[in-house]
Amino acid sequence: MTNNSYIGVFDSGIGGLTVVKSIIESMPNENIIYFGDTAHVPYGTRSPRQVTEYVLSDVKFINTFDIKAIVIACNTADSIARVKVEELYDLPVFGVVDPASKRAAEVTKNNKIGVIATNATIKSESYKAAIAKYNKDAEVFGVPCPLLVPLVENGRFHKGDIVIETVIKEYLDPLMEKGVDTLVLGCTHYPLLMEIIEGLYPSINIISSSGVAAETLKQNLEENGLISETESFDRKYFVSDDAEGFMRQAKVFMGDALGGEVEQVNLD
Ligand code: DGL
Repeated sequence: MTNNSYIGVFDSGIGGLTVVKSIIESMPNENIIYFGDTAHVPYGTRSPRQVTEYVLSDVKFINTFDIKAIVIACNTADSIARVKVEELYDLPVFGVVDPASKRAAEVTKNNKIGVIATNATIKSESYKAAIAKYNKDAEVFGVPCPLLVPLVENGRFHKGDIVIETVIKEYLDPLMEKGVDTLVLGCTHYPLLMEIIEGLYPSINIISSSGVAAETLKQNLEENGLISETESFDRKYFVSDDAEGFMRQAKVFMGDALGGEVEQVNLD
């Protein structure tokens, strides 16, 4: 393993590209392997046993490359299976839950933090536990938002779209009534909803788990002298189902920034 080894990123599907996008923005020369388990997406509605099984097979795959770090770019996977991944692999493991929790714990002024995420993430109480590590006085209100992932995947994330705005209000108005001053977007798809949420609730601190995760990764790689020294980059994307469909949706998540080929692999 060297500085120029790959950063190994995985997610249940397309959503982890919001993390990759942030990684590329701050570290454009990093070599990246991405695996999206599109054959099994969504993870957020599944049981912990099933999510763990999928995650272990995802990591086994990305570990077939020369990787210098594992990035769990999926809140559900990170919430449920992170400990297992750390136990099994002798590599630095980065997630999304801890960095976002730390940031939320630091920026809240009234110690009332809202977290929106998949059913599985909220049920795991991962955010509650992680925020408590950094701010023991914080009160955390978790809201499962199962309709948001399918709406985003169907392109319904534009300002003025009455469907997505109605659904967001239904989930978030009760949180606002509790007086939260900080809101964690605890799901990889939600950064695409940032503009709408900011428009609806302008006085709230909004923390994107994807953005903060990339910042934390960069800081850690710098501290450990592991930043890539190459001028160019190599990015490879793998999916467990249709590569074409992934490429089409990737444009929505990343514009034209993929910078690498997408290949379908069979992990079974
Ligand atoms: N990537 C998942 C997450 O961040 C959302 C999609 C899914 O449910 O698999 O929780």
